[in-house]
Amino acid sequence: MRTKEQSIYGKMLYLLRQIHIHPAYLLIPISLSIVSALLEGVGIGLLIPILNGFLQQNFAFLLEMPVIGGVFQRLPEPILANDKMLFGILLTGFISLYIAKNIFKYFSIVCIRYFSQRTLHHLRKTLFAKYLSFGKLFFDRTNIGHHSTLLLEFSSIALRPIFMLDKLVSAVFSMLAYLAVMFFISWRLTLIALPLFLVLHLIVRTLVCRIKDLSRALAEQGNELGKKSVEILATIPLIKSSRTEHREQELYTQISDRKARLDFRVEILTALILPLQEIITVLVAAGVFVGALAWFGRASIGTAPMLIVYAYIIFNASNKFGAISGFRGTMAGAYGPLDKVLAIFNDTSKFFVRGGSKEFKGLQDAITFKNLSFSYTEGQDVLHNLSFRITRGEMTAIVGPTGAGKSTLINLLMRYYDCPEKSIFIDQTDIREFSLDSYIQRVALVSQDTLLLHDTLRSNIAYGLAHVSEEDMRRAVERARLSEFVAGLPEGLQTLIGDRGVRLSGGEKQRVSIARALLKEAEILILDEATSSLDSHTERLIQEAIDEATKDRTSIVIAHRLSTIQHADTILVIQNGRLVEEGGVQELLDRKGIFFELWEEQKF
Ligand SMILES: Nc1ncnc2c1ncn2[C@@H]1O[C@H](COP(=O)(O)OP(=O)(O)OP(=O)(O)O)[C@@H](O)[C@H]1O
Ligand SMILES: [Mg+2]
Repeated sequence: MRTKEQSIYGKMLYLLRQIHIHPAYLLIPISLSIVSALLEGVGIGLLIPILNGFLQQNFAFLLEMPVIGGVFQRLPEPILANDKMLFGILLTGFISLYIAKNIFKYFSIVCIRYFSQRTLHHLRKTLFAKYLSFGKLFFDRTNIGHHSTLLLEFSSIALRPIFMLDKLVSAVFSMLAYLAVMFFISWRLTLIALPLFLVLHLIVRTLVCRIKDLSRALAEQGNELGKKSVEILATIPLIKSSRTEHREQELYTQISDRKARLDFRVEILTALILPLQEIITVLVAAGVFVGALAWFGRASIGTAPMLIVYAYIIFNASNKFGAISGFRGTMAGAYGPLDKVLAIFNDTSKFFVRGGSKEFKGLQDAITFKNLSFSYTEGQDVLHNLSFRITRGEMTAIVGPTGAGKSTLINLLMRYYDCPEKSIFIDQTDIREFSLDSYIQRVALVSQDTLLLHDTLRSNIAYGLAHVSEEDMRRAVERARLSEFVAGLPEGLQTLIGDRGVRLSGGEKQRVSIARALLKEAEILILDEATSSLDSHTERLIQEAIDEATKDRTSIVIAHRLSTIQHADTILVIQNGRLVEEGGVQELLDRKGIFFELWEEQKF
């Protein structure tokens, strides 16, 4: 138990270090909490003389009391002689202490809230930056739903123990102050009370252990629920077309049910803490009264104020004890989420693609592939020993059956995945030596699936570019053969398009993507053609847009429709990740090999 408690603190400190928050800042709210707790203790201590004087109708005993007596002896004689005056002074002192206590408490809450919100913000920000730094392969292998649960929910649950630290500190120090007052009032009674509190502590400890185990299972189910929600919402067309609404609903219901049951179990265990605590408090109070009866006798009036204050402390202490137990419950609940958050901070299996330090200043001669082999999953090569050249200013076409590895080649050129060392050269330099910023700036990709953001058409076309003039925008739209389409939109370029561009057709999306590439004015253009069949009008528009885009540019075009590449300078035919033919259109047709077969097939 003890080592685990320490290890969660170790983990928390590690997390704080990762997000560059110095835990020393916590000392401010903690010190304010301590002062507030001590002021409360002194305040309660003052209750004894107040009640005593009230019952005895005389405050003369004050002068003999330790500590307070010293203060009162300095007062002038007329005040000391006036009972009401003394009572007033005591009462004012008591009230002032409580006001001061609450002021300190309030500022400690303000500080801890500020610290908490800043910490949470830093954690989210850092987690997000981490995600953006991971390679694409990481996202291929994990689930987006999990990451959204982690960013939105787990990050805050993991930090909750820190958010409640002021409550813990204040409770612990109040308990210490109470203990001091209790011993001051009667050490014998306190010896009766303490073991009963110890029993309470042991019961709570058992509960907390159980909650901690459930926390991990709960985090797992929360994760599953997030995954399923995002997955279903992201694949609605598939679900609609396969009529699996019922099945998905059932799966979702099952996961949600499991999570609800676990939540319930955690809640009833947590809820058990409070009643147990109250019952034990009453037992403690009863024990104290019995003890008082035995030691002081029934009618001793002098002990009445002590007993009242003592009972007041016991009930208060039980509340503070509740706060400590609550904190332990929260801490137990943070175990699962904290582990999941920390997993994002370890750097293994995140598939980073790190660029080099060289600035890419433009292609001079050619992009050369040298014996390139590549696998997504270890041991299963998708590309085998590929060697070829892509000459500057020319159009190079890559053709081949589906699954041949064409898009994989593009993925490597786009630096989505890291290629092996010395396998792709830009002029004489390994592609890995160029900084990603300078390289990607000069490369544009029109991909098979155009991703669009929920924003205006204009912002979507200009995405990632700093300043785009109206004139440039107009020209790009025109060259991408989108003018007619834009003119037909209710608000032209300012029209909002759906989350993933659902309001655009495949052909329109592809032209938006071409407009993006044209606007970027990249010197290397990569086109990964969509396989979807298009009507002849759209096909002509796209063909015109592609011709426009590839003119006087180094271009790499993956084409399924061979008409797209009839003007290509070089054609590479890839099959099963191997280069099987290479040459000009006519040359390959004359050779009557695979390209010829593909060409003949498409004639009809
Ligand atoms: N992220 C990935 N993780 C694991 N395997 C992958 C991944 N992406 C592609 N593959 C595999 O790599 C092989 C080549 O895929 P690739 O997408 O490069 O084919 P392609 O030639 O572009 O096909 P298409 O013409 O259908 O677009 C396929 O067998 C595919 O299953
Ligand atoms: Mg492909």
